[in-house]
Amino acid sequence: MRRKIIAGNWKMFNNLSETVKLIDELKAKINNEALNCDVIVCPPFTSLETADRTIKGSVIKLGSQNMYFEENGAYTGEISASMLKSTGCEFVILGHSERRTIFKESNELINKKIKKALASGLKPIFCIGETLQEREEGITEKVVKTQVVNGLKDISADDMGKIIVAYEPVWAIGTGKTATPDQAQEVHSVIRNLIAELYSKEVAGNLVIQYGGSVKPDNAAQLLSQPDIDGALVGGACLKADSFFAIIKAA
Ligand code: PGA
Repeated sequence: MRRKIIAGNWKMFNNLSETVKLIDELKAKINNEALNCDVIVCPPFTSLETADRTIKGSVIKLGSQNMYFEENGAYTGEISASMLKSTGCEFVILGHSERRTIFKESNELINKKIKKALASGLKPIFCIGETLQEREEGITEKVVKTQVVNGLKDISADDMGKIIVAYEPVWAIGTGKTATPDQAQEVHSVIRNLIAELYSKEVAGNLVIQYGGSVKPDNAAQLLSQPDIDGALVGGACLKADSFFAIIKAA
């Protein structure tokens, strides 16, 4: 049985005081409830250390939204895996569609980042997904497969146990247009079968595949009840403790 993982991608929201407020509110809601899922928050870099201090004593885990693949050096504006580790980070979102589109990240670059994250003891949340145009052209499967094959190039079966895949159709991110549970399940099962082909049935069976793209309290339960949907990567709805907690409860 795969344990579900609900992660909140804060994107470029929340300064230090807002970080403390949101995490405190979330902690109060979770309180001592026994959850059926793991919970991760991914604040901006500037909030990581504060977030790490604030989640202490709770079940909430910490992730980041990006990193660079070099250890250190003249890379103005970039952050390394070991810097993230030193803030208390356990996870790192890599290959988010906003990184791919706005910052022109390629599958090859994302692959380098995944390898560096793994070598540094960070667990990647590896994002993939097709654009609206690609879906309309009927090439969703092809696009997602290319992203998986190239993004995971030379990653060992052992390391696959440390990776979370997040399927996020680009047309559903921040648009309020969620993939239907059937649409999402279809692609999740394509991804799991591909992992079985590339690695083994066992690796595929253990892989957590999150869905992301306008996950809200009112659609979370239906999405999360699909056999191959093992959690959610939540954007907009994770910025309020109420709605994020409702999604956690749905899991
Ligand atoms: P959204 O974002 O929930 O606001 O659609 C999801 C994501 O980008 O991870």
